[in-house]
Amino acid sequence: MPQFSIGERDFLLDGEPFQVISGALHYFRVHPGQWRERLRAARQMGLNTIETYVPWNEHEPRRGEFDASGRLDLAAFLELVHDEGMFAIVRPGPFICAEWDGGGLPAWLFLEPGIGIRSSEPRFVAEITRYLERVLAIVEPLQVQSGGPVILVQIENEYGAYGSDKAYLEELVRVTRAAGIDVPLTTVDQPAGTMLDDGSLPELLKTGSFGSRSAERLATLRAAQPTGPLMCSEFWCGWFDHWGAHHHTTTPAESAAELDTLLAAGASVNIYMVHGGTNFGLTNGANDKGVFQPTITSYDYDSPLDEAGRPTEKFHRFREVIARYAPVPDETPAGAVPAPTPTAPLRTVAALRTLAEGANEWMPAAGLPTLDSIGRYRGFAYYRTLLEGSGAPAVFTVDEVRDRATATLDGAYIGTLARELHENALTLPRTSGEFALLIEDEGRVNYGTRIGEQKGLIGPARLDGSELTGWQTLDVDIDALAAEAGALESSVDGVLAEPAFLVADVELDEASDLFLDTRHFGKGLVWVNGFALGRYWRKGPQGTLYVPRPATRAGSNRIVVLELETLADPTIRFAPDLILGHTDF
Ligand code: GLA
Repeated sequence: MPQFSIGERDFLLDGEPFQVISGALHYFRVHPGQWRERLRAARQMGLNTIETYVPWNEHEPRRGEFDASGRLDLAAFLELVHDEGMFAIVRPGPFICAEWDGGGLPAWLFLEPGIGIRSSEPRFVAEITRYLERVLAIVEPLQVQSGGPVILVQIENEYGAYGSDKAYLEELVRVTRAAGIDVPLTTVDQPAGTMLDDGSLPELLKTGSFGSRSAERLATLRAAQPTGPLMCSEFWCGWFDHWGAHHHTTTPAESAAELDTLLAAGASVNIYMVHGGTNFGLTNGANDKGVFQPTITSYDYDSPLDEAGRPTEKFHRFREVIARYAPVPDETPAGAVPAPTPTAPLRTVAALRTLAEGANEWMPAAGLPTLDSIGRYRGFAYYRTLLEGSGAPAVFTVDEVRDRATATLDGAYIGTLARELHENALTLPRTSGEFALLIEDEGRVNYGTRIGEQKGLIGPARLDGSELTGWQTLDVDIDALAAEAGALESSVDGVLAEPAFLVADVELDEASDLFLDTRHFGKGLVWVNGFALGRYWRKGPQGTLYVPRPATRAGSNRIVVLELETLADPTIRFAPDLILGHTDF
């Protein structure tokens, strides 16, 4: 069986120097029916290794309900990597960042008051131990020395940018080794300040994350670690986007030149991302450095393989560079061809609230609940309280809205409070009637000190300065309601002046990748044949939602749209290609 180890200057595969030329490809951002073709395309760029994170909150959405099947079948994904003749790097977190909801840490973890976050606090350690034991039991038999593809496992993720609790890192190493992981262990940090030291331990291989000034960063890495292979574990060849901002791109020639610098220096590399994929459903994360910025649905990342897995100019440039240092397969993946562009009318089938009230009961709450406290870890819930005051207007205030509240009084729209605008006050036209708010969690912060924060209305809530009480909540299981809406054959006449489901049937000659044009929609979500594509928002930059081929079929395809605001034109349209939006140059 092969042995993979760390030498004086290189990684060693069976004692021989081995340059890792890897690309990040997250199984959880690609439809499982497309894993193989994406991996093959990545190999055709010349990669010898594939790297993936493992998102804890996806595998364990509720405490104790661990799932590693179907689209979460990590073992099957790693087997495919092996089948394609590549090695694998696994980064199980528990924190992964990755623009993923909560950086992968499950929201239910933080219901325990005072539990530590990314620290050696005993209850946090107990939870991560349980999680890592589950995940590493999948990885353990797939290590290279057992005949599998896994050559490296990473401890934590850019921990030096968050903390310096060495006891926590030691605990992670202990659990990882106890789970039978014998391959070399790494850490990744930005090569600046004290991060490389804070985020690592002497027995772990320090690696860097960066996308420019490679020679300088490698020198910093070498200074921090006099022996061992040099590795850029995240060579950022693109970047992610926030709603309402521009689409980030990098120049293919410049990125290729950086890659060349890395490979020429003999460094190993993991290109972040070789293929970004999509934040399907409600899985996107968010940033908040004073302003809340949720990440968009597309995770195209301006990678060599675009969101639909097709090679870009960057793919070909990278392939040329890699070919100078390693064998590159002759074949290349098929290029883009225009996708089908059928159209279909959308018909309104039901109001969101009507379906939600049919599916669940309004529950009285003690005080002002958070979404987390009612067990709603992603998505939506309604809040309401009955006002028994006068007919005079009054001002509603709350400390913070996480992340968007759409308010009604006796069913009539009165306003929206948006977290990214720091809105936390609303004038009510009168103080009588049912005051209700639809709360949307737009994605949990995945970086920095707001990791672990709860969602919903963060209290106290007040009306003209007096605390508002008597709250009730109505849980919204959005996927279940979309399925229910999708089964409705009867339509509502005209337009509903509230969040509503719309349905269309689209005919296809054959299953195919599609790009749903959302530029005439407001804000909401889409499902195709029950598969949750993700969020759209008129703010862009993205103007299409990627529909993976395996989610479609020849014949009729049912599309369900949840429009939270205003749909300018009730028509399903497709674009022949991705529309990722404006760039900043
Ligand atoms: C860091 C993190 C990654 C990702 C990138 C930005 O390097 O380690 O998970 O968030 O930033 O895309």
